[in-house]
Amino acid sequence: MEYTRLGTTGTKVSKLCFGTWRFGKRTDGVVETDREAAHDLLDACWERGINFIDTANVYGDPSGTSESYIGEWLEDYDRDDFVIASKVYFPVDDGPNDSGLGRKHIRGQIDATLDRLGTDYLDVYYIHRWDEETPIEETLRTLTELVEDGKVNHLGASMMATWKLATALWESDVNGLERFEVTQPRFNAAYRDDAPYRQTPNYPVHVGHYLDFCAEHGLAVCPYSPLEGGFLTGKYERDDEAPSGSRGDLESWIDQFGDREWAVLDAIRHVANAIDATPAQVSLAWMLHGDTPTTTAPIIGARTPEQLDDSAGAVDLTLNDDHVERITAAY
Ligand SMILES: NC(=O)c1ccc[n+]([C@@H]2O[C@H](COP(=O)([O-])OP(=O)(O)OC[C@H]3O[C@@H](n4cnc5c(N)ncnc54)[C@H](OP(=O)(O)O)[C@@H]3O)[C@@H](O)[C@H]2O)c1
Repeated sequence: MEYTRLGTTGTKVSKLCFGTWRFGKRTDGVVETDREAAHDLLDACWERGINFIDTANVYGDPSGTSESYIGEWLEDYDRDDFVIASKVYFPVDDGPNDSGLGRKHIRGQIDATLDRLGTDYLDVYYIHRWDEETPIEETLRTLTELVEDGKVNHLGASMMATWKLATALWESDVNGLERFEVTQPRFNAAYRDDAPYRQTPNYPVHVGHYLDFCAEHGLAVCPYSPLEGGFLTGKYERDDEAPSGSRGDLESWIDQFGDREWAVLDAIRHVANAIDATPAQVSLAWMLHGDTPTTTAPIIGARTPEQLDDSAGAVDLTLNDDHVERITAAY
């Protein structure tokens, strides 16, 4: 495994981060990744040198199950060997202060997260989304106190409009507060540049501008869904139904792809055939290509050790400029 600096911070992370969104998540009553499978996957990460783990206070059913699985697993390991990121914002219950980025909610949630993870600090604490109702200054002051208390090392911001991220950095600068150092946008070879608002108004209008902004300001970029939820592994065919229980089937995920996305996948398959790699490896290598790649560490969401092995192979793969251009141009 190769390691890289997390943006301009001194923390070093593996070039792949492991995402645990499906730990303890129930779909139609069935747990997608149960405790045993989760621990096998985390063992597999450790064996492959992946030291960077992504979770959130709301992952799993009930909320927090993902953090609990990780915390139980960490009991057999040295917590300091890992860079652990979690998040806050989405509702954990129905009460008026059970969501968002107000001081009251954040202060309660950080303690619950640390308790479940069995640790006294997080390496990265992300705001999962922008809170339209809480002044960003209140949020940043609260997060700064968490850094001063030793509960958090670095602050992160997940998906939001670029101008909101700019506003937050400006607030930090003028008020002498901790700034966001790490970002977590949705980004991959088939979701970039002018990718549209798809889910919430918090999404950037233009993923390309967001990434340019992060590069300009030295922010680490840890994209989620780097394989478009499995689409870029090439395991789905046009007009096929996604198998029940797969990510392609969840929330009709596979139905959102049109000619442009399939053209990107065709280009990725072509390169994969040419260099005897898998489409998943080529897709991730495209993100990590170059002396100053756009991406610090994609957050892969493997569900089996075999998927993890496949994706981990990307770190040893070097694409030439023609390969990269073919995939880039297909979009
Ligand atoms: N900040 C946010 O708002 C946000 C949003 C989403 C995710 N995330 C984070 O990002 C992580 C990754 O997101 P994601 O799950 O969408 O990532 P992804 O890597 O694009 O997709 C992962 C899914 O693709 C399939 N897959 C992965 N590797 C494969 C392989 N080598 N061969 C075949 N299939 C493979 C698996 O689904 P199946 O086996 O079911 O097909 C897996 O669950 C999450 O766990 C979470 O930590 C953050």
